[in-house]
Amino acid sequence: MTIFGNVLVTVHFTADYLSRGRSKSFRAITLLGMTNNDVLYISKADAEWWRTAVIYQIYPRSFADGNGDGMGDLKGVTTRLESLQELGVDAIWFSPFFKSPQKDAGYDVSDYKDIDPLFGNLADFDELLARAHALGLRIIVDLVPNHSSDQHEWFQAALKSPKGSPEREMYIFRDGKGWFGRKAPNNWPSVFGGSQWTRITEPNGKKGQWYLHIFDSSQPDLNWENERVRDEFDKVLQFWLDRGVDGFRIDVAHGMIKRAGLPDTKTISTEMGGAKAEADMTIEELEVANPYWGQPEVHAINRRWRKIIDSYNDRAMAAEAWVLPLERMARWVRPDEYNQTFNFGYMFAGWNKEAQIKSIEESFEAFGAVGAPSTWVLSNHDTIRHVTRYGMTGNLPQGDGIGPSYAQPDEALGLRKGRASTAFMLGLPGGAYIYQGEELGLPEHTTLEGKYRQDPTYFRTKGERVGRDGCRVPLPWEAGVNESNGFSSTGESWLPQPDSYKRYARDLQRGIAGSTLELYKRLLKERKEHNLGGGNFRWALEFTDEHSLAYVNNGVAVIANFGPEPVQLPAGEVLVTTQVDLTAEHELEHDQVVWIKLS
Ligand code: NOJ
Repeated sequence: MTIFGNVLVTVHFTADYLSRGRSKSFRAITLLGMTNNDVLYISKADAEWWRTAVIYQIYPRSFADGNGDGMGDLKGVTTRLESLQELGVDAIWFSPFFKSPQKDAGYDVSDYKDIDPLFGNLADFDELLARAHALGLRIIVDLVPNHSSDQHEWFQAALKSPKGSPEREMYIFRDGKGWFGRKAPNNWPSVFGGSQWTRITEPNGKKGQWYLHIFDSSQPDLNWENERVRDEFDKVLQFWLDRGVDGFRIDVAHGMIKRAGLPDTKTISTEMGGAKAEADMTIEELEVANPYWGQPEVHAINRRWRKIIDSYNDRAMAAEAWVLPLERMARWVRPDEYNQTFNFGYMFAGWNKEAQIKSIEESFEAFGAVGAPSTWVLSNHDTIRHVTRYGMTGNLPQGDGIGPSYAQPDEALGLRKGRASTAFMLGLPGGAYIYQGEELGLPEHTTLEGKYRQDPTYFRTKGERVGRDGCRVPLPWEAGVNESNGFSSTGESWLPQPDSYKRYARDLQRGIAGSTLELYKRLLKERKEHNLGGGNFRWALEFTDEHSLAYVNNGVAVIANFGPEPVQLPAGEVLVTTQVDLTAEHELEHDQVVWIKLS
């Protein structure tokens, strides 16, 4: 079978491929799954930019501080943009910088058409955009439509207005259950801990209705059944498109519609997609089990926005649609919906041979079937940095953070595996995401004290889950120039860096052969040179043995060694390798990856 970027073309089926079929049996895949060297994926020829782009995520609080107050800002980004051009990425996705009380680090927006003073103003944004475009970098902004801040004027008006009023209809208000409505309307759990419902005090001073918030109580969910909400967001999209942005990353693109009647959830899962824990269910069963994730009516909103996007030239939108299995996620990237979506399946696949085979095949199959490229991603601002995940030898008590009392990672092991997994990932056709700092091999801050924590998860679970602050720590730019290693001119930093960050500073790595920064630069350069983003993928059985795994994309063999013994490499020009001293014997050691241009 061959999956083309825009059509599913059956060349021939191997018996094995047929037997795998849908996601349930897919899970049982063994290494025998790699039965031949058929081309599995061919990119669409006239590739739109987003089909192959490498997109760098900037977390504005922590990238670079331009005014010395310890908080990253837009001016700080503008002065450091050249480093991203030098790195070789194609686009930047900014986590939110809109006006916000910052209860969830900007994912609680109080004005969708303005910049938070913490980060600057609209003029700073225009300057940044112009500079980025001049450097050949596209800009994607993060839109948060599932919920607003409770300080948004719409919510404030709703609180002041009576039950049943048009103002309340902007959000999801319900009467409570039981005696005097004291009980929450249903059993839905907040992703950040506790209930999804908070009771308000009515304008007459009495306890009254409850409002829904999938996340923190400062993030009330908007009512997307209400046409006024849809109209308002059309205008928000147009506002930023008119300003010249190249696209959007849409937050919680799977949460906006709730199942009619708001029935109790059958599985009390607080995971973002609510799907990981229920991997044996069909998609339809998942829709019923999680009445607030991935409801089918959300696709009408996707289509409405796609029309807006397509009415401008060359723009794109990416979904944070955290619904698994990938076959389900692929519904968000059907031809008239999102252009691409984060591949959370791949993010958590794990660095081992079997998992890589399964996840890569599943990705090509699911996204290829709807004509979308796959994206590849290992880290972001919600997840433990992958170099740290791979350095954990014991079980992780939680998925989104590591605290000082937990077992600590093996830093060297994590870095080795992290570099290898990135090198394996960046050779794959499709789009790719890089989270700020991973080009430095930056680890998670795993010993951050409670007094510094800001993630609402930490507070809503009373410290039981430490939350995501550890992956959001400001970047080190110049080792030792001050307390923040050059993040700010004053040494201020809204979260303290761990001591190790000094060793990872950009200036120590720039131009140094074998450094992680130079590795990323080389990977991105060769990826572009050989058009791997737009390439054709096949497994390479001829370079694969019991412990190694190889694929060929556009004539470049990408080989990983997962086993203890060194692997003999084929002839050809070594384009890039994670192994700092590739031996004269041309052998690849364990947890190392090499790209070889086949002769
Ligand atoms: C997903 C974002 O990535 C995360 O950081 C945020 O807390 C939630 N959505 C709520 O907006």
